[in-house]
Parts: sequence; C-alpha cells; structure tokens
Amino acid sequence: MQIIKLNATSSTNQYLKELIMSTSVEDFTVVIAEKQEQGRGQMGTKWLSEPGKNLTFSVLKKGETLEVADQFLLNMCVSLAVYEALKELNIPSLAVKWPNDILSANSKICGILIENILIGSKIQSSIIGIGLNVNQLTFNNLPNVSSLKLLKGVTFNLDEVLQVIIVKLKKYLTSNYLNSPDVLRTLYQEIMFRIHKPSTFKSKEGEVFMGFIKGVSSSGKLIVLLEDNIFKEYNLKEIQLLY
Ligand code: BTN
Repeated sequence: MQIIKLNATSSTNQYLKELIMSTSVEDFTVVIAEKQEQGRGQMGTKWLSEPGKNLTFSVLKKGETLEVADQFLLNMCVSLAVYEALKELNIPSLAVKWPNDILSANSKICGILIENILIGSKIQSSIIGIGLNVNQLTFNNLPNVSSLKLLKGVTFNLDEVLQVIIVKLKKYLTSNYLNSPDVLRTLYQEIMFRIHKPSTFKSKEGEVFMGFIKGVSSSGKLIVLLEDNIFKEYNLKEIQLLY
C-alpha cells in the first residue's frame, strides 16, 4: 500500500483526485498532508486544521459495482471503521452523528468527506477524506469540537493513529460489508448519536423542531419520529441535526 506524504497541498481529496485522473493508482493509496491550504468540509464548508498537529488524509477506494444511489453504504463503512479505530485507542463515549461526524463526549473530533468519481450511475472510485483532530489544543472558541489530546491528556503519534484507521478501513471497505446493507445499517444504528432520544433539528428553511431519531434508510436518509406519530425521512440537504 502506498502512502504519499506531503508537506502542504490545497486539499488531499483534490490531490488524490488529480492523481487518479493522470495515472494508475493502486487501491487504498493514502495521501496525507501536514497542511491543507483549502481543506474541504461537507456541504461546501472549509476544514480547518492546525498544521502538523492532526491527521488530514484521503484514501482511494476503487469502485466495485456500487450504484451512486448506494453511496451511503460507503459512508457507513467509513464511519464504522473510524469509530472502531478510535475505540481501540480508548477514546471515550464515541458516537457517529448522522451522516458521518465522529463525536467523543458530545464533541466533534473527526469529519469525513467522501467524493465519488462516477461512470454513468456507477461509482468508479471513491476518495475518502478524513480529518481527525489529534494533538490540536485550541479551536478558536468553536463550540463542541475536541481532539484526542484534549480528551486523553496525552500526545498521540500521528503515524500510529493513521495505521489503526487504515487497518479498520480495510476491514470495512470490503464486498462482505458493501454487499450487506442491512448488516451495515444495524451496526451503524447501534453507534448513532442520539438514536431513540429526543433531538433538535434545523430545516433548510431555518425552522428548529424536535423529533426522535429512529435510524437511517437504505439510501442514508435520517428517519425521524415527529409529533402525532408521524415518521419522516430527511436527506442531508433538508435538515441538520443540532443536538
Ligand atoms: C466535515 O465537514 O466534517 C468533513 C471534513 C473532511 C476533512 C478532510 S481533511 C482530508 C480531506 N481533504 C479535504 O479537503 N477534506 C478532507
């Protein structure tokens, strides 16, 4: 497995995307950078990370036969992999906040951005971008953000943490799991933040409302039980889970 280490790049997702466009790259190639000048987050946001302190990397998963409609299977595999890796590192009170933020003690420690290259309706390759706050100690007063060091009080070796995550990605990103959507959904729902608990959401129109998270649909929509016993499914663009 190849690991490409960079001092700086705009975004490791972008670097890997350009690389696979220009040459043949083996499955599970990793691109890691000490510094990203334009780190990308979900929904067009920026991913900020103190250079040299954290893990910002992208992993190539060559597509099998997944349809673009099945993209959430990848999200679940990656969430499960990162969750299990962090559990192995004894990080406390872990949960996955839909769709794939990893929380510890209610604070975000890791974000995941998967960008797919399509051929027709099939996923040809997936670029799995992971930003994990490891040794950073301050976050400009951002609420509910933390790092492994803040949580455990020790400095982590970045290479060791990366290795643990890669082993778990290799475990979950196999056809065994990708061909078992119900198994994945069951495992994902077991570690979901606030499942079956009253939660607060914000709609894209800005309305704040309450409901109970009941799980995810096979396409990755969040299933919410609203007042009057009504179940509704929401996609990522429709609502944001606040807490
Ligand atoms: C999120 O918004 O939570 C997703 C953040 C994903 C950040 C990672 S850092 C490595 C990779 N390269 C990027 O530009 N983004 C992802």
